[in-house]
Amino acid sequence: MAVAVYPGSFDPVTLGHMDIIERTAQMMDYVIIGVLRNNSKSPLFSVEERVNMLKSVTTHLSNVEVTSFDGLLVDFAHQKGAGIIVRGLRAITDFEYELQLSQTNRVMAPDIDTIFLTTNLKYSYLSSSIVKEIAWYHGNIQEFLHPAIVESVEKKVAAAADKLK
Ligand code: PNS
Repeated sequence: MAVAVYPGSFDPVTLGHMDIIERTAQMMDYVIIGVLRNNSKSPLFSVEERVNMLKSVTTHLSNVEVTSFDGLLVDFAHQKGAGIIVRGLRAITDFEYELQLSQTNRVMAPDIDTIFLTTNLKYSYLSSSIVKEIAWYHGNIQEFLHPAIVESVEKKVAAAADKLK
């Protein structure tokens, strides 16, 4: 059985992530979306919020599970019985970091392979940070997020902005 982990911060999940999730779900028997709990990037959303948002946008995918993890990704993949890590590549700027990550993971866990999916061109510019920045300046984020989470992202960003006033 082909079991894959799709890890990330997902702060929040964007349509670019969704594209990777849906394509991975078609290719694999089972997909575990792993949401990193303690992230050096200091996420805006709590891990519970990020997991819940992912759950609400993946209800149509019966072979997809969403869960948080802490510690090394390869340990999480081993715990889950996954032999494949999936990462999305948007542009050449992603490549250096992704290569380092995948090679380090492969040294630590030679039984796990990383595969890269190039993102749909439509979303090649998109990132969670860009979406938060647009929301911060009251721009329209509907084009970038699943409709189920647009309002909660707008509210969270507005609350963060209010705190700074
Ligand atoms: O969405 P992101 O922030 O680009 O995802 C990065 C992630 C979660 C894949 C990466 O930071 C990660 O795997 N963190 C867990 C710790 C780990 O295993 N690091 C790699 C070996 S140093």
